[in-house]
Amino acid sequence: MEKDIRALKAEKSAVIMAHNYQPMEIQDLADVVGDSLELAVKAKETAADLIVVCGVRFMAETAKILNPDRKVVIPVEDAGCPLADFLTPEMIREARQRYPDAAVVVYVNSTAESKALADITCTSANAVRVVASLSNDTILFGPDANLAAYVQRELPEKTIIPLPPGGHCYVHTGFTLADVEAARRKGGQIVCHPECPPEIQEQADRIASTGGMVRDAAAGGDEPWSIFTEREMASRLRVLYPGRVFYEKPEAVCADMKKIYLEDLRRALESEEHEVILPPEVMDRARRAIERMIAVGA
Ligand code: 13P
Ligand code: SF4
Repeated sequence: MEKDIRALKAEKSAVIMAHNYQPMEIQDLADVVGDSLELAVKAKETAADLIVVCGVRFMAETAKILNPDRKVVIPVEDAGCPLADFLTPEMIREARQRYPDAAVVVYVNSTAESKALADITCTSANAVRVVASLSNDTILFGPDANLAAYVQRELPEKTIIPLPPGGHCYVHTGFTLADVEAARRKGGQIVCHPECPPEIQEQADRIASTGGMVRDAAAGGDEPWSIFTEREMASRLRVLYPGRVFYEKPEAVCADMKKIYLEDLRRALESEEHEVILPPEVMDRARRAIERMIAVGA
Protein backbone atom coordinates (compact mmCIF):
# COMPACT_ATOMS: atom_id res chain seq x y z
CA MET A 1 0.00 0.00 0.00
CA GLU A 2 2.79 2.42 0.91
CA LYS A 3 4.65 1.64 -2.31
CA ASP A 4 1.48 2.24 -4.33
CA ILE A 5 0.90 5.57 -2.62
CA ARG A 6 4.47 6.75 -3.21
CA ALA A 7 4.34 5.69 -6.87
CA LEU A 8 0.99 7.42 -7.47
CA LYS A 9 2.23 10.54 -5.73
CA ALA A 10 5.27 10.73 -8.04
CA GLU A 11 3.24 9.92 -11.14
CA LYS A 12 0.69 12.66 -10.43
CA SER A 13 3.15 15.26 -9.08
CA ALA A 14 1.02 15.37 -5.99
CA VAL A 15 1.77 16.77 -2.57
CA ILE A 16 0.31 15.13 0.54
CA MET A 17 -0.38 17.43 3.47
CA ALA A 18 -1.31 16.02 6.86
CA HIS A 19 -2.37 17.62 10.12
CA ASN A 20 -0.61 16.69 13.38
CA TYR A 21 -3.74 14.76 14.48
CA GLN A 22 -3.71 12.38 11.50
CA PRO A 23 -2.98 8.68 12.12
CA MET A 24 0.79 8.10 12.14
CA GLU A 25 0.74 5.89 9.04
CA ILE A 26 -0.70 8.86 7.11
CA GLN A 27 1.79 11.30 8.64
CA ASP A 28 4.63 8.96 7.62
CA LEU A 29 3.67 9.32 3.94
CA ALA A 30 3.02 13.06 3.98
CA ASP A 31 5.28 15.70 2.42
CA VAL A 32 4.12 18.27 4.93
CA VAL A 33 2.92 17.63 8.50
CA GLY A 34 1.90 20.59 10.58
CA ASP A 35 -0.66 22.70 12.36
CA SER A 36 -3.42 24.64 10.60
CA LEU A 37 -1.23 27.69 9.98
CA GLU A 38 1.69 25.66 8.64
CA LEU A 39 -0.61 23.74 6.30
CA ALA A 40 -2.15 26.99 5.03
CA VAL A 41 1.25 28.59 4.41
CA LYS A 42 2.71 25.48 2.74
CA ALA A 43 -0.42 25.10 0.59
CA LYS A 44 0.25 28.59 -0.74
CA GLU A 45 3.90 27.78 -1.45
CA THR A 46 3.43 24.45 -3.21
CA ALA A 47 3.79 24.08 -6.97
CA ALA A 48 2.16 20.63 -7.11
CA ASP A 49 -0.64 19.94 -9.61
CA LEU A 50 -2.60 17.93 -7.08
CA ILE A 51 -2.86 18.70 -3.37
CA VAL A 52 -4.20 15.93 -1.14
CA VAL A 53 -5.17 17.22 2.27
CA CYS A 54 -5.33 14.60 5.03
CA GLY A 55 -7.17 16.42 7.74
CA VAL A 56 -10.66 17.82 8.09
CA ARG A 57 -12.69 19.73 5.54
CA PHE A 58 -11.84 23.28 6.60
CA MET A 59 -8.14 22.50 6.07
CA ALA A 60 -8.77 21.24 2.53
CA GLU A 61 -10.98 24.29 1.85
CA THR A 62 -8.22 26.64 3.04
CA ALA A 63 -5.75 24.91 0.71
CA LYS A 64 -8.21 25.30 -2.18
CA ILE A 65 -8.93 28.95 -1.41
CA LEU A 66 -5.19 29.69 -1.52
CA ASN A 67 -4.71 27.59 -4.68
CA PRO A 68 -7.83 28.24 -6.76
CA ASP A 69 -6.18 26.96 -9.96
CA ARG A 70 -4.97 23.67 -8.50
CA LYS A 71 -6.87 20.52 -7.78
CA VAL A 72 -7.36 19.99 -4.04
CA VAL A 73 -8.85 16.74 -2.77
CA ILE A 74 -9.78 15.36 0.63
CA PRO A 75 -9.66 11.53 0.77
CA VAL A 76 -12.83 11.20 2.87
CA GLU A 77 -15.63 13.56 1.98
CA ASP A 78 -17.35 13.77 5.36
CA ALA A 79 -14.28 14.42 7.52
CA GLY A 80 -15.57 17.61 9.15
CA CYS A 81 -14.93 19.69 12.26
CA PRO A 82 -17.96 19.99 14.57
CA LEU A 83 -16.45 23.20 16.02
CA ALA A 84 -16.64 24.85 12.57
CA ASP A 85 -20.40 24.27 12.46
CA PHE A 86 -21.04 26.41 15.56
CA LEU A 87 -20.63 29.61 13.54
CA THR A 88 -23.09 30.51 10.79
CA PRO A 89 -22.94 33.41 8.29
CA GLU A 90 -26.23 34.72 9.77
CA MET A 91 -24.59 35.04 13.21
CA ILE A 92 -21.78 37.11 11.71
CA ARG A 93 -24.16 39.39 9.80
CA GLU A 94 -26.33 39.95 12.89
CA ALA A 95 -23.34 40.62 15.14
CA ARG A 96 -21.90 43.11 12.66
CA GLN A 97 -25.16 45.09 12.82
CA ARG A 98 -25.16 45.02 16.61
CA TYR A 99 -21.46 46.00 16.88
CA PRO A 100 -20.73 48.18 13.84
CA ASP A 101 -17.32 49.27 15.17
CA ALA A 102 -16.08 45.75 15.87
CA ALA A 103 -13.69 43.71 13.74
CA VAL A 104 -14.65 40.14 12.89
CA VAL A 105 -11.92 37.54 13.49
CA VAL A 106 -12.79 34.04 12.33
CA TYR A 107 -10.78 31.03 13.48
CA VAL A 108 -9.74 28.84 10.53
CA ASN A 109 -11.81 26.03 12.07
CA SER A 110 -14.83 27.44 10.25
CA THR A 111 -16.71 27.14 6.97
CA ALA A 112 -15.53 28.96 3.83
CA GLU A 113 -18.74 31.04 3.96
CA SER A 114 -17.87 32.31 7.47
CA LYS A 115 -14.31 33.12 6.40
CA ALA A 116 -15.71 35.10 3.49
CA LEU A 117 -17.49 37.37 5.99
CA ALA A 118 -14.43 37.87 8.21
CA ASP A 119 -12.11 40.86 8.30
CA ILE A 120 -9.28 38.45 9.03
CA THR A 121 -8.87 34.80 9.98
CA CYS A 122 -6.60 33.36 12.67
CA THR A 123 -5.32 30.01 13.88
CA SER A 124 -4.45 29.02 17.43
CA ALA A 125 -0.80 29.73 16.56
CA ASN A 126 -1.36 33.40 15.74
CA ALA A 127 -4.72 34.38 17.32
CA VAL A 128 -3.15 36.79 19.82
CA ARG A 129 -0.92 38.39 17.19
CA VAL A 130 -3.82 38.74 14.74
CA VAL A 131 -6.10 40.44 17.29
CA ALA A 132 -3.26 42.66 18.52
CA SER A 133 -2.69 43.80 14.93
CA LEU A 134 -6.19 45.29 14.71
CA SER A 135 -6.97 48.86 15.72
CA ASN A 136 -10.56 48.04 16.79
CA ASP A 137 -11.19 47.87 20.55
CA THR A 138 -14.04 45.38 20.15
CA ILE A 139 -13.48 42.06 18.42
CA LEU A 140 -16.15 39.57 17.40
CA PHE A 141 -14.35 36.24 17.62
CA GLY A 142 -15.65 32.81 16.59
CA PRO A 143 -16.37 29.99 16.66
CA ASP A 144 -14.18 28.83 19.59
CA ALA A 145 -15.14 30.54 22.86
CA ASN A 146 -12.18 29.01 24.75
CA LEU A 147 -9.66 30.38 22.25
CA ALA A 148 -11.53 33.71 22.56
CA ALA A 149 -11.06 33.56 26.35
CA TYR A 150 -7.34 32.85 25.87
CA VAL A 151 -6.95 35.88 23.58
CA GLN A 152 -8.93 38.02 26.06
CA ARG A 153 -6.56 37.02 28.87
CA GLU A 154 -3.51 37.88 26.76
CA LEU A 155 -4.97 41.17 25.51
CA PRO A 156 -6.99 42.68 28.41
CA GLU A 157 -7.11 46.05 26.62
CA LYS A 158 -9.46 44.57 23.98
CA THR A 159 -13.09 43.50 24.40
CA ILE A 160 -13.44 40.06 22.84
CA ILE A 161 -17.00 38.93 22.18
CA PRO A 162 -17.27 35.18 21.49
CA LEU A 163 -19.45 34.30 18.55
CA PRO A 164 -21.47 32.25 19.43
CA PRO A 165 -20.99 32.33 23.24
CA GLY A 166 -20.61 28.56 23.68
CA GLY A 167 -18.67 27.44 20.57
CA HIS A 168 -16.27 24.66 21.51
CA CYS A 169 -14.44 21.50 20.43
CA TYR A 170 -15.66 18.38 22.20
CA VAL A 171 -12.17 16.85 22.20
CA HIS A 172 -10.66 19.75 24.15
CA THR A 173 -13.59 20.38 26.49
CA GLY A 174 -13.17 16.72 27.48
CA PHE A 175 -10.14 17.73 29.57
CA THR A 176 -11.05 18.20 33.25
CA LEU A 177 -9.43 19.17 36.53
CA ALA A 178 -9.23 15.42 37.28
CA ASP A 179 -6.90 15.14 34.24
CA VAL A 180 -4.81 17.99 35.67
CA GLU A 181 -4.53 16.14 39.00
CA ALA A 182 -3.59 12.89 37.25
CA ALA A 183 -0.93 14.71 35.19
CA ARG A 184 0.49 16.36 38.31
CA ARG A 185 0.83 12.94 39.95
CA LYS A 186 2.88 11.76 36.92
CA GLY A 187 5.11 14.85 37.19
CA GLY A 188 6.54 17.14 34.52
CA GLN A 189 4.68 19.87 32.64
CA ILE A 190 1.12 20.22 31.39
CA VAL A 191 1.02 21.57 27.84
CA CYS A 192 -2.48 22.49 26.68
CA HIS A 193 -4.08 23.66 23.46
CA PRO A 194 -5.98 26.97 23.75
CA GLU A 195 -9.20 25.18 22.76
CA CYS A 196 -9.17 23.69 26.29
CA PRO A 197 -11.52 25.41 28.78
CA PRO A 198 -10.18 28.44 30.72
CA GLU A 199 -9.96 26.51 34.03
CA ILE A 200 -7.59 24.05 32.33
CA GLN A 201 -5.62 26.84 30.63
CA GLU A 202 -5.10 28.42 34.07
CA GLN A 203 -3.57 25.20 35.42
CA ALA A 204 -1.32 24.52 32.41
CA ASP A 205 2.42 25.25 32.37
CA ARG A 206 2.28 26.08 28.66
CA ILE A 207 -0.46 26.91 26.19
CA ALA A 208 0.35 26.26 22.54
CA SER A 209 -1.05 25.37 19.14
CA THR A 210 -0.04 21.94 17.86
CA GLY A 211 2.79 23.55 15.84
CA GLY A 212 3.76 25.56 18.93
CA MET A 213 4.10 22.28 20.87
CA VAL A 214 6.53 20.97 18.23
CA ARG A 215 8.56 24.19 18.36
CA ASP A 216 8.56 24.43 22.18
CA ALA A 217 9.69 20.81 22.49
CA ALA A 218 12.58 21.56 20.11
CA ALA A 219 13.94 23.93 22.74
CA GLY A 220 14.86 20.84 24.75
CA GLY A 221 14.31 19.89 28.38
CA ASP A 222 14.01 16.42 29.79
CA GLU A 223 10.83 16.71 31.83
CA PRO A 224 7.85 14.60 30.78
CA TRP A 225 5.02 16.53 29.13
CA SER A 226 1.34 15.74 29.52
CA ILE A 227 -0.24 16.74 26.22
CA PHE A 228 -3.73 18.20 26.61
CA THR A 229 -4.94 17.99 23.03
CA GLU A 230 -5.87 15.24 20.54
CA ARG A 231 -3.93 12.12 21.48
CA GLU A 232 -2.02 11.73 18.15
CA MET A 233 -0.06 14.87 19.02
CA ALA A 234 1.89 12.93 21.65
CA SER A 235 2.73 10.25 19.04
CA ARG A 236 4.02 12.95 16.69
CA LEU A 237 6.18 14.45 19.44
CA ARG A 238 7.57 11.01 20.34
CA VAL A 239 8.63 10.52 16.70
CA LEU A 240 10.24 13.96 16.54
CA TYR A 241 11.94 13.73 19.94
CA PRO A 242 12.82 10.09 20.64
CA GLY A 243 13.78 9.39 24.21
CA ARG A 244 11.53 12.09 25.65
CA VAL A 245 8.34 11.24 27.53
CA PHE A 246 5.01 12.60 26.26
CA TYR A 247 1.79 11.42 27.92
CA GLU A 248 -1.49 11.51 26.02
CA LYS A 249 -5.08 11.11 27.20
CA PRO A 250 -6.22 7.96 25.34
CA GLU A 251 -9.85 9.15 25.21
CA ALA A 252 -8.96 12.48 23.54
CA VAL A 253 -9.77 11.40 20.00
CA CYS A 254 -11.05 13.58 17.16
CA ALA A 255 -13.27 11.08 15.34
CA ASP A 256 -13.18 13.05 12.07
CA MET A 257 -9.38 13.14 12.03
CA LYS A 258 -9.41 9.35 12.20
CA LYS A 259 -11.64 8.79 9.16
CA ILE A 260 -8.77 8.65 6.65
CA TYR A 261 -7.09 5.26 6.17
CA LEU A 262 -4.20 4.40 3.80
CA GLU A 263 -6.76 2.85 1.47
CA ASP A 264 -8.59 6.21 1.25
CA LEU A 265 -5.35 8.04 0.54
CA ARG A 266 -4.50 5.62 -2.27
CA ARG A 267 -7.98 5.97 -3.74
CA ALA A 268 -7.76 9.79 -3.55
CA LEU A 269 -4.46 9.77 -5.48
CA GLU A 270 -5.80 7.31 -8.03
CA SER A 271 -9.25 8.79 -8.67
CA GLU A 272 -8.49 12.40 -7.59
CA GLU A 273 -11.62 12.34 -5.45
CA HIS A 274 -13.08 14.11 -3.49
CA GLU A 275 -12.32 17.43 -5.08
CA VAL A 276 -13.00 20.57 -3.05
CA ILE A 277 -15.29 22.86 -5.04
CA LEU A 278 -16.35 26.24 -3.69
CA PRO A 279 -18.15 29.20 -5.26
CA PRO A 280 -15.51 31.57 -6.75
CA GLU A 281 -16.95 34.66 -5.00
CA VAL A 282 -16.78 32.92 -1.61
CA MET A 283 -13.19 31.90 -2.32
CA ASP A 284 -12.18 35.41 -3.37
CA ARG A 285 -13.54 36.98 -0.20
CA ALA A 286 -12.23 34.25 2.10
CA ARG A 287 -8.78 34.49 0.45
CA ARG A 288 -8.53 38.15 1.40
CA ALA A 289 -9.12 37.29 5.08
CA ILE A 290 -6.67 34.35 5.02
CA GLU A 291 -3.93 36.27 3.22
CA ARG A 292 -4.31 39.13 5.66
CA MET A 293 -3.73 36.59 8.45
CA ILE A 294 -0.67 35.11 6.73
CA ALA A 295 0.80 38.62 6.36
CA VAL A 296 0.42 39.18 10.12
CA GLY A 297 1.74 35.75 11.04
CA ALA A 298 4.77 35.81 8.78
P1 13P B 1 -3.84 23.71 15.34
O1 13P B 1 -3.96 24.90 14.48
O2 13P B 1 -3.17 23.98 16.65
O3 13P B 1 -3.21 22.58 14.61
O4 13P B 1 -5.29 23.26 15.77
C1 13P B 1 -6.23 22.78 14.87
C2 13P B 1 -7.29 22.05 15.53
O5 13P B 1 -8.20 21.57 14.92
C3 13P B 1 -7.23 21.94 16.97
O6 13P B 1 -8.21 21.10 17.42
FE1 SF4 C 1 -12.29 20.22 15.05
FE2 SF4 C 1 -11.80 19.58 17.60
FE3 SF4 C 1 -11.25 17.85 15.67
FE4 SF4 C 1 -9.76 20.05 15.97
S1 SF4 C 1 -9.94 18.34 17.41
S2 SF4 C 1 -10.55 19.22 14.04
S3 SF4 C 1 -11.33 21.51 16.61
S4 SF4 C 1 -13.29 18.61 16.25
